Amino acid sequence: MSGRCCRSKLSVWAALCVLVLCWFYVFPVYRLPSYEEIVDEVSRQGHAWRKNHTGIHVYRKLLTECCDPQRIFAVTKENSPIGKVLWYDGELYKSHTVSNDTYPLFVQDSPLRRPLKKCAVVGNGGVLRHSGCGRDIDDADFVMRCNLPPLSKEYMEDVGTRTHLVTANPSIIEKRFQNLLWSRRSFVESMQAYGSSYVYMPAFSMQPGTEPSLRAYHTLADARSNLTVLFAHPDFLRSVGAFWRGRGVHARRLSTGLFLASLALGVCDEVTVYGFWPFAAGPDPGRRPVSHHYYDDVLPYKWFHAMPEEFVQLWRLHTAGTLRMRVDQCSPPPPDGGEGEERVGTGG
Ligand SMILES: *[C@@H]1O[C@H](CO)[C@@H](O)[C@H](O)[C@H]1NC(C)=O
Ligand SMILES: *[C@@H]1O[C@H](CO)[C@@H](O)[C@H](O)[C@H]1NC(C)=O
Ligand SMILES: *[C@@H]1O[C@H](CO)[C@@H](O)[C@H](O)[C@H]1NC(C)=O
Repeated sequence: MSGRCCRSKLSVWAALCVLVLCWFYVFPVYRLPSYEEIVDEVSRQGHAWRKNHTGIHVYRKLLTECCDPQRIFAVTKENSPIGKVLWYDGELYKSHTVSNDTYPLFVQDSPLRRPLKKCAVVGNGGVLRHSGCGRDIDDADFVMRCNLPPLSKEYMEDVGTRTHLVTANPSIIEKRFQNLLWSRRSFVESMQAYGSSYVYMPAFSMQPGTEPSLRAYHTLADARSNLTVLFAHPDFLRSVGAFWRGRGVHARRLSTGLFLASLALGVCDEVTVYGFWPFAAGPDPGRRPVSHHYYDDVLPYKWFHAMPEEFVQLWRLHTAGTLRMRVDQCSPPPPDGGEGEERVGTGG
């Protein structure tokens, strides 16, 4: 009798413990500021920003120690010889063993050569619309973009035209290009917008993504495209995920934007991020409505990414001067013929 009573008490305690743990997971001890608080703080801060050389140095060191972006951000012949087992970072117990078939598709060694000076990481947030940031973005030495964004003429003024690295999720290949099982021409043609940049694909994150990624590689190779496909190294994605989890980002998976910002912090001297604004109202005094993307207003799969948490992390780096976040308008071009100094909008 009493034995059974104790056991049932024990299971009640166990259930309570599980509940408490879940609570702390869902509502971590530190409180994420509310949306209004974030927007207020961003608009109070205004355009003022000062570069912090110490912060840049500290973060480069942290990221190099945790994730070694210079060496393992992509799968290369050097870091992944034949026989090497790549463990998928988005699935448990799934792996790909590098074989005679896949090895030749890898680049020889890391294509990122330090020092990269000014890097621009361009998210696709609707906050870019009417920002006039295209010129600023194109001025960077290395421009990274997320998920094959449209770069047509209508967006040029706000997002620029140059690209050095663009990410492509296998799911886009599937949805937008019928998995490349039918016509491949529309894929090859739409990829011309990215010139001769790197196409960065998480081919070894989820098993269903491997086939479409390899097909994208072969399609571009057959078309003698100037683009170079890079496969994201699952170890890099995993270690960057752990790095940000340790700093309070509770997402099942980081957004592409935060991966790229981490890569940039690890290899660039100066990082500016654009188009990161996961809120429906702008940081301007009028709180103008902001669409989800600069090119449409389709919402992503909810709960998958923790965008406001990611934003808060990047905003902290911005206020410390480690990277610069643009959520405002970029300075207008100088008047015709004028060679005017670029103004820093501190109100001075
Ligand atoms: C510069 O960065 C360092 C390291 O992240 C930080 O401790 C320091 O407070 C920052 N300085 C300013 C003025 O924010
Ligand atoms: C891989 O290809 C090389 C040269 O094409 C060949 O010598 C080697 O036996 C192959 N290895 C396997 C495991 O098939
Ligand atoms: C590749 O680049 C070269 C030189 O910039 C250019 O002439 C050529 O048309 C490009 N090829 C394709 C397929 O875009």
